Amino acid sequence: MSEPILPPIGMLAELTHRCPLQCPYCSNPLELLKANRELDTQTWLDLFSQAADLGVLQVHLSGGEPTLRRDLEQLIAGLSARGVYTNLITAGIGIAEGRIEAFAEAGLDHLQLSFQGARPATTDRIGNHRGSHEKKLETARRARVAGLPLTINAPIHRHNIEEVPEFIDLALSLDAERLEIANVQYAGWALANRDALMPDLAAVYRQADVVATARERLAGIINIDFVTPDYFATYPKPCMGGWARDAFMVTPDGTVLPCHAAQTIPSLRFERFGERTLAEIWTDSPAFNAFRGTEWMQEPCRSCERREVDWGGCRCQAMAIAGDAAATDPACIKSPIHTRMAMLIDAALAEATPAADENGAENFIFRRIGATTRPDVSDHPPI
Ligand code: SF4
Ligand code: FES
Repeated sequence: MSEPILPPIGMLAELTHRCPLQCPYCSNPLELLKANRELDTQTWLDLFSQAADLGVLQVHLSGGEPTLRRDLEQLIAGLSARGVYTNLITAGIGIAEGRIEAFAEAGLDHLQLSFQGARPATTDRIGNHRGSHEKKLETARRARVAGLPLTINAPIHRHNIEEVPEFIDLALSLDAERLEIANVQYAGWALANRDALMPDLAAVYRQADVVATARERLAGIINIDFVTPDYFATYPKPCMGGWARDAFMVTPDGTVLPCHAAQTIPSLRFERFGERTLAEIWTDSPAFNAFRGTEWMQEPCRSCERREVDWGGCRCQAMAIAGDAAATDPACIKSPIHTRMAMLIDAALAEATPAADENGAENFIFRRIGATTRPDVSDHPPI
């Protein structure tokens, strides 16, 4: 008998795909939506209200760059009025004077700020935006002055993995309460850039040691979260806490998804807010029910003692690497194609030339609307 469907707790609202940065590891889809496809203020407020009715307790306001929405204060206030915890996930550049204070006044509970590097040159190169590091430092200071608790998010890959000790110093210097050392998940733009981003095993081990030592040394001072790199894992993570288990996300045009890469699974059709209510989509949508619980599982997941620990891992990674969204996540050592992960690491590292690493930007497909193929140099001059 199938389990009852419990209400969701968390929601990620991708308010816009517009962004001043062009990070090659972005988890957004390759087909980015333009501003004219974004939901208007009232529709987002209606959606948030239905989410609160459904039981959602926390909303992560994300993008793209969510602060590009001029109505962000209104959206925060709408959520706050319903008692929903709000976390703003921002790249922290181009935020007009007074706005961070206005977000705090509207009821924002927490700000999460990403840094592409711990060094200014790395941040500017990876995001392909000159001067971005300085602007981020300023955003962090303003957030703390406004009384907002701060998380520093550090997406880790080959080009910044040796900066992990400096990321820890940076987070401490900015008075962050949490640092997220998040090894890049290869979906969206990160999958398209996998060869250019993949670190080697020795660097991954060094990084894990640095984090373990720092966690001990800084216990009670700062929380350091560590998102392990799937390709080097023994067991997969419970992606999104399990498909349609306690969280979902909404794209800028109101499409409701179980996870950020779900649209890469061609057999599924996703519904938009407005076609049906959020409650109907959460409970009845065939896409949400496709991989809920454990009944859809094949062996070895079906009889595995960890099936309700990691829920079979990531469906989108299974789709991308095994070609079957219902397969065991290849990150799992029990997957019959687990060795393919090591082959993909080797292939990626074989692609990495020393010259490209010195000036790695030349190998990236930078994230921007319309750039689903490698940009040509004249079209996209390096900074
Ligand atoms: Fe998780 Fe499936 Fe691997 Fe078991 S076989 S650990 S359930 S991914
Ligand atoms: Fe879709 Fe993991 S990203 S299930």
